[in-house]
Order: sequence, then structure tokens, then C-alpha cells
Amino acid sequence: MGLWGKRDDTVVHEERPFNAEPVPDALDRHDVTPVDTFFSRNHADIQQLDPDAFRLDVDGLVERPLRLSLAGLRERFAVRTVVATLQCAGNRRAELAAARDIPGQVPWGPCAVSTAEWTGAALADVLAAAGLRPEAGHVAFLGAEAFGGSIPVAKATAREVLLAWGMNGAPLPPVHGGPLRVVVPGYIGARSVKWLRRVTAQERPSDNRFQARDYRLLPADADPAEAAQGHGLSLGVAALNAAVLCPQEGRTLPAGPVRVSGYAAAGDGRAVARVDVSVDGGRHWRQADLGEPAGPWAWRRWRLTVRLPPGTAEITARAWDDSAAVQPERVEHVWNPSGYMNTAWSTVRVTCVENGDGRSCGG
Ligand code: MTE
Repeated sequence: MGLWGKRDDTVVHEERPFNAEPVPDALDRHDVTPVDTFFSRNHADIQQLDPDAFRLDVDGLVERPLRLSLAGLRERFAVRTVVATLQCAGNRRAELAAARDIPGQVPWGPCAVSTAEWTGAALADVLAAAGLRPEAGHVAFLGAEAFGGSIPVAKATAREVLLAWGMNGAPLPPVHGGPLRVVVPGYIGARSVKWLRRVTAQERPSDNRFQARDYRLLPADADPAEAAQGHGLSLGVAALNAAVLCPQEGRTLPAGPVRVSGYAAAGDGRAVARVDVSVDGGRHWRQADLGEPAGPWAWRRWRLTVRLPPGTAEITARAWDDSAAVQPERVEHVWNPSGYMNTAWSTVRVTCVENGDGRSCGG
């Protein structure tokens, strides 16, 4: 077992802070990602908090501020379970950085995304118990190491947003924000604040630096070091994205039928409608088979068998959502200085050999 209970073959970009993603083969195996495979994104050290001493403050524009222990949360509110995909806004940054340098940022591959079954209380129920006041426009979250952010009230009061203490049927481990985190399905992972200490109802969006300065999409010609607070587009709702996980980039495979598979995920309020696969650079497309989603907030896993002749091949996938939005073609079209939201078509390059004995996926 690797660091923080992750699989031995996990790609560890940094040990401190711990930033790690699974290899594509491992991520591609499950609808609900095992905890040892789930990616982890941290901006500071992982917090090790005592669940018994833990308290959550709910304050700001509420009639009755609350201070809740973990036991209090469990006893007072209905327990809910939601299967939800979390995707980091920096997922697939390495492909952007290959087009144009992105210094000082974690070079995520296509696996800074995972899906878990989260258990906890609906944030809506907790806000109702506190008496959310009508002037509140946003609900801000603060973690124990000062990471924070906010979401609009309309989302905060939606049933799917959880204050979660459980992950895949076990207590939420410290590496994923235990004892308590927010889970905001349909939003970038940064809004799912870990080691949650404080929930504040307020008029305006959070001025925490991880919302006011970071996780903002700057125009391609901006310098992130010079950008003023509040500059650029504040990221919140996730964007439509998809990636090929299998075969993995650079593999050598037997020519003939090759199984291609991966994931697709839509943003808040949208659903993945179709995934297309091309083996000729986008001139012709075939539709992949979409797997049944594990829930309305979970990714769609997809697969298709294509025929590849001997030689090098490029396999490309793109997803469509139910508004007929489709992923943009090239990374150059979405490149931005901090390398967020790479939603471009996903391409892997492989070599096919006659009478080869490799497999497209798995060990
Ligand atoms: N919460 C805290 N307190 N500190 C963090 O660094 N990282 C955020 C979010 N919540 C972060 C946090 C980001 S950017 C992402 S993508 C997700 O947590 C990652 O969650 P995970 O580590 O459980 O995969």
C-alpha cells in the first residue's frame, strides 16, 4: 500500500502537499472508485482531526447559529447517501502544458476525477435548522487549514449537497477530508471543502483566496502572477468533460479489435447524452456504449471496440451533453495560464503490431 492508503501504482505528483492520481487502468475498473484508488488534491498538509472533539459552526445570515458535533449532526438530521463524481478543475492539465508551458501547477493526467458513495446530512437540512435568512446569496465553507470557497444559495439548498462523514460505506478518511467535508456534486472539486469547520451564509461569494484568486480562468494572454484578486472567470459549475482511459497513452497492442473505454461527466444540471470515438482524427465518429450511471451525479463510463491496423494510431473521444454542447477540439482552444478546465477532445496514441500479445487494458 502506498502513501495515505493509496495503491502502490498511484502517480504521486507531490508528497507534501499530497497530490496523487490513480493510473488510468485502475480508475477504469469501477463505477464507484475504491478509496485506495480515488485521486487526492491538497493545498497544505492533510489534517488529522479528532472526530470526538470535532465541531462545525454554522453562522452568518441565519436566525439561529449552530455548533454541531459529529454525533449531533448524525442524530439531528436525516442520513442521506449520494453517489457523486468529484473532478479537479486541474484535471488533464498535463495536456495543456504540453501545448504551452504552465509553470508551478500540478501536471495532472486524466485521472484527477473519481466517484464515491458519500454519506452525510443534506446541507439544506442544516441550513433550514439554522434558519437561513432571505438576504443570503451564497454559502461559504472553511476548512481547518484555511482552504475555503462558496456556492450560491440555490445550490447550497439543493438536496444533493452533503455534509459527508462517510465514503463508500466507511468513515471518511483524513486524506479525503474526514471527519467532515462538503460534497458539491456538479461543481469543481475545489468547492467540496475538506476538514470542514465553518459554514457561513453571506450576501456575496467567498473572498477566500482559493476562490477570489485561484480557481479562476484567466484569458490566455494574462500573467497569473500579476492578476488582481477577482480577475478572470470564477470557476464553480463543472464543465462537460471526457477522457480515454484505455488503452493508455503509449501502449503497444496487437492489431485488430481493441477495446476503448473511459469516462464522461457533465456539469451541474446537465447529463452526458453521447460519447463519440474516432480513430481517424475526427473525420469519422462512432458512438460508444454508455454504461448505466451509478446515480444522477455520477460520471458515465463508456466503451467501444474499434479495429486498428498495424502501425501507429490515435484514438479520440468527445462527449455531448443534453443541451447538445460538445467538447472543443484542441487544447490550444482552451489553454489558459493556470491550466484549468481542459475540456478538449481526449486523444491517446498507441502502436499496433501484427501478432502482438499485449492487452489494451489491465495489468
Ligand atoms: N479542502 C481543503 N480543506 N483543502 C484542500 O486543499 N482541495 C480541494 C477540495 N477540498 C482542498 C479541499 C480540491 S482542489 C479538490 S479537487 C478536492 O478537495 C479533492 O478532494 P479529494 O482529495 O478527496 O480527492
